[in-house]
Amino acid sequence: MPVDPDKLNALAGKFLNDMGAAITGPSILIGEQLGLYKALAASGPATSEELAKKTGTLERYLREWLAGQAAAGYVEYDPGSGRYSMTPEQAYAMTNEDSPLYIPGAFYSVASVYKDQRKIAEAIKTGKGMGWHEHHVDLFMGTKKFFRPGYLANLVSSWLPSLDGVVEKLRKGARVADVGCGLGASTIIMAKAFPKSQFVGFDYHTESIEWARNDAVTEGVVGNTDFEVSTAKAYPGKDYDLVTFFDCLHDMGDPVGAGRHVLESLKPDGTWMVVEPFAKEMVAENLTPVGRVFYNASLLICVPASLSQEVGRGLGAQASDSSLEEVFRSGGFTRVRKAVETPFNRVFEMRP
Ligand SMILES: C[S@@+](CC[C@H](N)C(=O)[O-])C[C@H]1O[C@@H](n2cnc3c(N)ncnc32)[C@H](O)[C@@H]1O
Repeated sequence: MPVDPDKLNALAGKFLNDMGAAITGPSILIGEQLGLYKALAASGPATSEELAKKTGTLERYLREWLAGQAAAGYVEYDPGSGRYSMTPEQAYAMTNEDSPLYIPGAFYSVASVYKDQRKIAEAIKTGKGMGWHEHHVDLFMGTKKFFRPGYLANLVSSWLPSLDGVVEKLRKGARVADVGCGLGASTIIMAKAFPKSQFVGFDYHTESIEWARNDAVTEGVVGNTDFEVSTAKAYPGKDYDLVTFFDCLHDMGDPVGAGRHVLESLKPDGTWMVVEPFAKEMVAENLTPVGRVFYNASLLICVPASLSQEVGRGLGAQASDSSLEEVFRSGGFTRVRKAVETPFNRVFEMRP
């Protein structure tokens, strides 16, 4: 078959965009770590000399960094004055860690999978799994930085209210287990919003739990939070009003076994809340920009994590509603409902 030059050109354009994004990622992380975006946003229009002076960095590097950022569209350049600046939108997305569109956070996780790529290739070849804990440390921090803005924007205002009677219980004082809590971003947000309730975050990854404990101190929620190392099938407690799983059920080897344990740990009128990445039923429906992010994260992180554990179910980050429903029902839950969805997430509510 002859090569169609127009189609080849279109493919080259797409490649150039992808290559540009891939090579800009580390520069974005440098901008975050050295406070370059924050300094530029605060100072207003600045030359590379002025920004270097303000941030205690070498001007020669900043000349390159600023030009690269301007070419990427994360800062503006005025050729007349030779000054760089940021629009309100760029400043919001590049400097505000609480904004729903905090761009630098995502690149920590992306950086981690580049570092781990050869280990993942080996796992694909040998069929072995690769546990969450075996990844580069940037994955743990990156997950928190990437997911937390979405939790801040949705969890208290929309996701918890979408569950039957849960907010009322949380206001009065409820017992909550946040399983697979990672660095505890969701646990801490809930603990702040509902000071009369008690929250315990569980995760099998010791380092994440240590980070979560530190964050609980910084965020002033030690009074109503606790963080313990435990797996989803073995965490202690029998009388929870609410058990939450944020973006972690599909990472587990035995999600059905986890569901059974949740059922045993809940009060008879308790609720199991499961937040999973947004996905539609069929692969063809998920071939979108969001699906692209999730299928690749699933290959590089989620499926290897699940295959490293007992059972090795390998649900994947794009598990359909029907395959998740099968897991929930096999775990013993009779009332299963998708409560709400956003462009990035689905929220499921299960009752005994
Ligand atoms: C994608 S991260 C999500 C972390 C956190 N819930 C959040 O939203 O930021 C998945 C988490 O599941 C945890 N995990 C995986 N398998 C687990 C298991 N069997 N029991 C407990 N935690 C598990 C990992 O250690 C990791 O912290």
